[in-house]
Amino acid sequence: MAAMRRAGKLAPSVLGADFGRLAERVRQVESEAALFHVDVMDGHFVPPITIGPVVVRALRAATSRPLECHLMVERPLEQIEQFAEAGADSVLVHLEAAPDPGAVFAKARSLGLGVGLCVSPPTPVTDALPFLESIDVLNVMTVNPGWAGQTFIAEMLPKIRRARAEIDRGGLAVDLTVDGGVTLDTGCAALDAGADVLVAATSVFGRPDPAAAAREFNELLRARGERPSPARSGPPPR
Ligand code: DX5
Ligand code: ZN
Repeated sequence: MAAMRRAGKLAPSVLGADFGRLAERVRQVESEAALFHVDVMDGHFVPPITIGPVVVRALRAATSRPLECHLMVERPLEQIEQFAEAGADSVLVHLEAAPDPGAVFAKARSLGLGVGLCVSPPTPVTDALPFLESIDVLNVMTVNPGWAGQTFIAEMLPKIRRARAEIDRGGLAVDLTVDGGVTLDTGCAALDAGADVLVAATSVFGRPDPAAAAREFNELLRARGERPSPARSGPPPR
């Protein structure tokens, strides 16, 4: 019998929101958000500087939904405690910044945080697979990290398929997240490939009515939930 897919989740990325009205925007989409994705950039790992713990604290006061902090920072180990204190629920670190992420995971767990691993487009997903048993989230990036509003890189879909197969093979409770350039169309392609969580900044907060946009994503997720996983074909990607 074909494996049944878990219901997908929408994670609006606050990077796409009007920062002058951040709390208001978050509350607007809260009922449609399974969690909020918070893009933290330090100006080193990626050129921009975006959100730090001060803003995470403000988000914490604005919503009771989980806050997932995507740390696009060079030295995640040194930063995690500040995010935990600010009210983050989980931290995602980049394999490119933490090639040996065990210490980062241990620190995050000791602070009661969930943990995840992100792979940038040039990084083979196979590099992340040895850590699947240690993480809650595997984030396959479908744009190069650093900016919202970029175009989805469809060549990343085989990485999602490969990760899905490994997660299913191990019977693991890992959320497979797709992050970057997600629209209703590219989101569909990612769900087809086996993603569980859609991160979306521009396609939610960049729309005139973010709540309606988030609702459309959930309609898509509901329509596709609990369907047999598609057959997989082709050679395994690196
Ligand atoms: C990019 C970030 C993404 C970004 C997504 O570095 O990790 O989470 O906010 O933005 P959109 O959905 O506009 O591609
Ligand atoms: Zn992100």
